[in-house]
Amino acid sequence: MPYLFATEHHNDADYAAGRVFYSLPGHPAFPVRLAGEIFRRCLALREADNLTAPCALYDPCCGGAYHLATLAYLHGERIASIAASDIDADALALARRNLDLLTWSGLDRRIAELARLWADCGKRSHEEALESAERLRERLLASTERRAIPVSLFQADAADGARVLGELGAQSVDVVITDVPYNRLSAWQGNVADPLWRMLEALRLVLAPGAVVAIASDKGQKAEHEAYQRVDRFQIGKRRIVLLKCDV
Ligand SMILES: C[S@@+](CC[C@H](N)C(=O)[O-])C[C@H]1O[C@@H](n2cnc3c(N)ncnc32)[C@H](O)[C@@H]1O
Repeated sequence: MPYLFATEHHNDADYAAGRVFYSLPGHPAFPVRLAGEIFRRCLALREADNLTAPCALYDPCCGGAYHLATLAYLHGERIASIAASDIDADALALARRNLDLLTWSGLDRRIAELARLWADCGKRSHEEALESAERLRERLLASTERRAIPVSLFQADAADGARVLGELGAQSVDVVITDVPYNRLSAWQGNVADPLWRMLEALRLVLAPGAVVAIASDKGQKAEHEAYQRVDRFQIGKRRIVLLKCDV
């Protein structure tokens, strides 16, 4: 049983890609339950080090930032800030729309858009999306006691440490969760020689003490770097998830 935390099946329909959250062909969306499981494993590792404050979360290959947006809705009280970057401008445009749904104005715009679609086309799927959006609004309302989660979004090659450091600053990231390209729906771009090692090397510049890096990839890619130790590993379907901590 690979799920240690997300052990119960919930109806995640409200979070389905393309329903309220935006999706585009060629931009794969990460499973909601798996994202929650990875996030909670990262938090458990931090708690073992007595690190219990809400975390600064970063994804250097964010794609449409779908999983970051769903994590913010489901575990927002454990997230101090979200940073997201991608090498691809189209992915970033999609990420911006999804992360905008964490704000009142963004969600209200989406609700108006879905209401227009429902009024114009009368499709049941639009009505269901509208119902989901209203439920997300209730969740947002329930969390107004908390501050809004600050979000930063920028274009960068994940291997470009100087650029990532320039955007984020040193020791600014507590948890990295990234679903790297599998060369099926999305492929590595930039310098494709050993991209995972190069991404891990770049991340060393921005990780705070005790940071946890979780990488989801296919079996063909090895998330290894001599400055990191593997602290957890599991597999769900074809995805292999490796959790690392940096020694330096
Ligand atoms: C599997 S997708 C991520 C999907 C995302 N987890 C989601 O739920 O929406 C991988 C992303 O890596 C990006 N990518 C490819 N090469 C990159 C690089 N060198 N640096 C940063 N991002 C890169 C692609 O543009 C793509 O958006």
